[in-house]
Amino acid sequence: MKSYVTGAVSALAIAASSAAIAGPEAEVLHYWTSGGEAKSVAVLQKEFADNGGTWTDMPVAGGGGDAAMTALRARVLSGNAPTAVQLKGPAIQEWYEEGVLADISAVAEANGWADVLPASIAGHMKCEGTWCAAPVNVHRVDWIWANAEVLKANDIAMPTTWDEFNAAASTLQAAGIIPLAHGGQSWQDATVFEAVALGILGADGFRKAFVDLDKDTLTSDGMIAVFDQMRTMRGFVDPNFSGRDWNLATAMVMNGEAAFQIMGDWAKGEFMAAGKVPGEDFLCMSTPGEGFLYNVDSFAMFAVDGDEKKQGQDLLAKLVVGKNFQEVFNLNKGSIPARTDVALDKFDSCAILSSEDMAASSAGGSLLPSYAHGMALRGAQAGAITDVVTAHFNSDMSSADAVQQLATAVANSM
Ligand code: BGC
Repeated sequence: MKSYVTGAVSALAIAASSAAIAGPEAEVLHYWTSGGEAKSVAVLQKEFADNGGTWTDMPVAGGGGDAAMTALRARVLSGNAPTAVQLKGPAIQEWYEEGVLADISAVAEANGWADVLPASIAGHMKCEGTWCAAPVNVHRVDWIWANAEVLKANDIAMPTTWDEFNAAASTLQAAGIIPLAHGGQSWQDATVFEAVALGILGADGFRKAFVDLDKDTLTSDGMIAVFDQMRTMRGFVDPNFSGRDWNLATAMVMNGEAAFQIMGDWAKGEFMAAGKVPGEDFLCMSTPGEGFLYNVDSFAMFAVDGDEKKQGQDLLAKLVVGKNFQEVFNLNKGSIPARTDVALDKFDSCAILSSEDMAASSAGGSLLPSYAHGMALRGAQAGAITDVVTAHFNSDMSSADAVQQLATAVANSM
């Protein structure tokens, strides 16, 4: 009898300890697979493990996340959603409307998110008043990156107007340097296009076109000028641009094969991961024009069964908005913290510029959501615009035809 009791107690003890070992779990779908991105996501994996979590990685390569979103849909349709997904902007709302997201309001409230996140960011994280996503950063999209030595050797300054850009690019081309490192993937075409559009249309024009989808703006002379500039830029990319990944384009700037890249500041994450120093090896400047195009990465949790998974979701949500994580992650990622109370002492000059410009554009009404990175429009509308941008960039379509196609594609997507 005595030995039976002892045996039962130790069986219980074993059961209790293995329950403790199980702990929080998360299967995380993300598309952070380049050098700088992988370093950034490793910060999160470590912090999750240090807090007792078990991380199952589901990386889906492909810049901008198109492939990741296709993989997500397949998983949700088969009734087997991942626990946490790198998701952002109106896509969060679209998944919420399908009834498949978990409510993380308890974590948000316990950790005072409303007090430390700007209202513009918090708005994207809420679904009908409840918290449905956790933000990790603010990426700026409208950046131009340059190889410092190449510019110096050719006596070229960072361009402050698109005419200056064109003149610099022509000089570089004549000197045998690829002016613009670009990867011909539709999301990269859209990235360049929206930076050009912000510069040429201005903040109000950008908002009317890509937030309000105003037909007059979509077919305006300004929009024709935007497509004209895209046609000019097509002449500044090398013949092998089709299909190239964005980080390989960044590498071309790093090694001096190309002078410029127009890309969000995840490109800075690549330069930093390669040990390059801003202001010395590479230069950053906002693309010509006023305003700031923001792109906030965030995680949404999908409704799943199982205590360990639910604990994992809560832990992950708490960690990503945590002060320490927001500093370390963003130092690697190239972005700036989403929280307003993280000191920027350890951040470089490009990040400081981003933070200052974000505050100024917020005050001046020119802080705008990126359409190319899924912050401004629902998937169908953004996709309709990008299809026209890519079709124009890869053919001899006139700018006049492009704006007509743009208006039609947008109307058909509604
Ligand atoms: C994401 C970034 C990512 C980039 C390249 C953007 O849409 O917001 O986090 O690094 O795409 O994949």
